[in-house]
Amino acid sequence: MVDFTYLNMKILVISGTPGTGKTTVSNNIANYLKVKVISLNELAISENLIIEYDTKRETSIINNSKLIPFLIKLIEKYRKENFEFLIIESHFSDIVPERFIDWVIILRCDPDELFIRLKKRGYKIEKIRENVQSEILGNCVNFFINKQLDTPILEIDTTKINIESITKTIMDIILKDKDLEKYYAGKVDWLEKLFQENRLQEFFD
Ligand SMILES: Nc1ncnc2c1ncn2[C@@H]1O[C@H](COP(=O)(O)OP(=O)(O)OP(=O)(O)O)[C@@H](O)[C@H]1O
Ligand SMILES: [Mg+2]
Repeated sequence: MVDFTYLNMKILVISGTPGTGKTTVSNNIANYLKVKVISLNELAISENLIIEYDTKRETSIINNSKLIPFLIKLIEKYRKENFEFLIIESHFSDIVPERFIDWVIILRCDPDELFIRLKKRGYKIEKIRENVQSEILGNCVNFFINKQLDTPILEIDTTKINIESITKTIMDIILKDKDLEKYYAGKVDWLEKLFQENRLQEFFD
């Protein structure tokens, strides 16, 4: 007889440009819920699921054809361990196959604030620019728009919100499906904001 007792684990996928707070928020959620967090970047590196290190861009090139099957096995393992929720977080978490996704939340951050956060991290200027440009273009959101999802793509502007409040917002979403429409993707538009401020050139030249 099939044991259905462990089939209930729900999966929250969090994406967003580096520096938007995915890891900090995910680990904070784990203080409140019986949740397992998979950080895809850390997983890929610790399990050596990378192709090579790109020294110019200072980033690892992930081997998706190895990472995805590894991830699927890990998801099944956590399902059997009866976790209530699994969070998969990374700036490339769009690699998670559609069938596993219950919610998608993209963390967004104003380009000026993101610049400050990445500078504090010690990123060199080229890497900061590349990431800030990616945030302005909304790349992480676009990657999900290209998928066939049954669930709405949600985004949270984290610019002026502290980790605790973001945590609460996300818990309201996954526990109560609260105010989902408020977070439907499309409302955050840095491109438009910078265009209105006549500042696009500062970021793209
Ligand atoms: N809402 C916030 N307010 C202020 N600082 C924040 C906020 N979110 C994150 N930070 C800070 O920004 C930095 C980056 O956060 P974090 O490492 O969680 O980002 P990340 O999205 O996981 O990045 P990466 O994709 O590189 O792993 C940390 O120093 C964190 O404390
Ligand atoms: Mg992180």
